[in-house]
Amino acid sequence: MNYCFNNKCFAILILLTFFSIRLNAQKAPSSSLVSSSPKCPSWVPDAVFYEIYPQTFSDTDGDGIGDLKGIIQNLRYVKSLGVSAIWLNPFYESPFRDAGYDVSDFYKVAARYGTNEDAKKLFQEAHELGLKVIIDYVPGHTSIDHPWFKASASAKPNKYSNWYVWTNNTWDNGGSEFAGKMIQGFSERNGNFMTNYFWHQPALNFGFGKVDPKKPWQLPANHPDVRELKDEMKNVLKYWLDMGADGFRIDMAGSLTKNDQGSLECIKWWKEVREMLDTQYPNAFIVSEWSHPPAALEGGFHADYLHWIAEYENLFRKEQSRSLNGVSPDGYSYFDQKGMGDISAFMNVYLKQLEETKSKGFISIPVGNHDLSRITNNRSKEDLEIIYAFLMTMPGVPFFYYGDEIGMKQLLIENAKEGCYKPRAGARTPMQWNTSNNAGFSAASSEKLWLPIDSDPLRPTVQTALNNPTSIWYRTKHLIELRRKEKALYAQADFKVLYMEKDKYPFIYSRSLGNEKIIVALNPSGKELSVEIPLKIKGKLELLSGTPSILNTTGDKTMLTMKGVSYSIYKLK
Ligand code: NOJ
Repeated sequence: MNYCFNNKCFAILILLTFFSIRLNAQKAPSSSLVSSSPKCPSWVPDAVFYEIYPQTFSDTDGDGIGDLKGIIQNLRYVKSLGVSAIWLNPFYESPFRDAGYDVSDFYKVAARYGTNEDAKKLFQEAHELGLKVIIDYVPGHTSIDHPWFKASASAKPNKYSNWYVWTNNTWDNGGSEFAGKMIQGFSERNGNFMTNYFWHQPALNFGFGKVDPKKPWQLPANHPDVRELKDEMKNVLKYWLDMGADGFRIDMAGSLTKNDQGSLECIKWWKEVREMLDTQYPNAFIVSEWSHPPAALEGGFHADYLHWIAEYENLFRKEQSRSLNGVSPDGYSYFDQKGMGDISAFMNVYLKQLEETKSKGFISIPVGNHDLSRITNNRSKEDLEIIYAFLMTMPGVPFFYYGDEIGMKQLLIENAKEGCYKPRAGARTPMQWNTSNNAGFSAASSEKLWLPIDSDPLRPTVQTALNNPTSIWYRTKHLIELRRKEKALYAQADFKVLYMEKDKYPFIYSRSLGNEKIIVALNPSGKELSVEIPLKIKGKLELLSGTPSILNTTGDKTMLTMKGVSYSIYKLK
């Protein structure tokens, strides 16, 4: 597989490409841009993803729930925003106790979304527009309604008995290390099953890293029954790739193997998956919900999201957590006009992990997704633009959440819908397309909608945003296009912090690839600020986005002065 692309290795690259094409005749090899870059499909370095929540994107059959036909109809819209790829949340058959993350058939699209044929058509039509589509893959658990689990729960031993983790006796709760994880008295089978998330999501059995000899129900990761399950889970991946999917967002990817010190067995399994992809589907991209990039990227993921860590709170959501989630972290987030946040807490973790994972893969910092509250509340268009400027100029692969491009609000929804407990439901409300009934999302009566629509008469919509050249939609599109145009902003381009102090503003960094260099300065606080950065500006500066800052170079240092609530993205010429 080739992954170097500077002048020196150009000749070698040609040779390697030639051989790898010959060795791998059926699919194009993956590539990226510089020799130290992580190996990844060639479409990834400049990719920008758009996450679509199928329940609430667009409903074409009037049942109040979005569907695949609705997504197909709006592919041109997605394309018009400038993104290059889609992440689609689970569309599989499911009893929907966790909004589809409780799968009851990995091989079948849920009737409410359409058919497998619709999925195929979605992949095809997206490809015709030059869009890639990755889909959610949930390997850690199934629904209790999955036929595998039903068979596993039977008292009579069968092929599926060991596909889930069961103790040997209903009075054996597995031991204190599994407190709260075992469900007792579920079926005639004499034993308790282990859950992976909600109680109704039994853990698929990927085995144990360290087996306790006193607990014979713990199977090693190479047990033949575990092996059989793993092979079947690989078949699931192949099935959707063969149908046209371009990869997967992988749910709770680090949760598979139990009692697994250092996630060693889990990493081993993912390496095996990556090897299969590299040889059979080299254009497929996998991104994990692990939130520990050193482990995830070691396992072969092309990228990992870093957001399930305490320090992530420092970025966007501290105030929101207080008002929306009922959780009360101290202090303020960084991207807030009060200017009382601290970016160093998150960045110190990030920088360490970035260094550790440099040539292995990418770290994605989501600013929104279906599990996080929307970042829009109590923020102005200018605040949002600074956040999106951050998203589009950081290393790794950026993911945009549907509706954030028009500034859709987080709604206060008290009751859970299909396991979307607060604040999740409030971030999963219907897409606001236009000013017609139900904001153009569905022809159903409003009580039938999967979740209510923002009732604010001034709610943002795509239609109003498109009619206003100064809307956040156009600013978002501009930033996405910039990200995809400038090589120095690509996923693997170097990242260097130029100004970051605990509890201080602004945050300034450079991105560079080859001869190209970009400087990004972000000041979400309301105050005008001047700081000195270790940078000598010799040539010209081109303002690519944002408002001009004042830059004065003396010797090897530059004084940078920027207005409150502003950002500047400069290209060094
Ligand atoms: C993470 C998913 O993003 C979330 O929505 C889901 O509830 C859990 N994993 C369980 O699958």
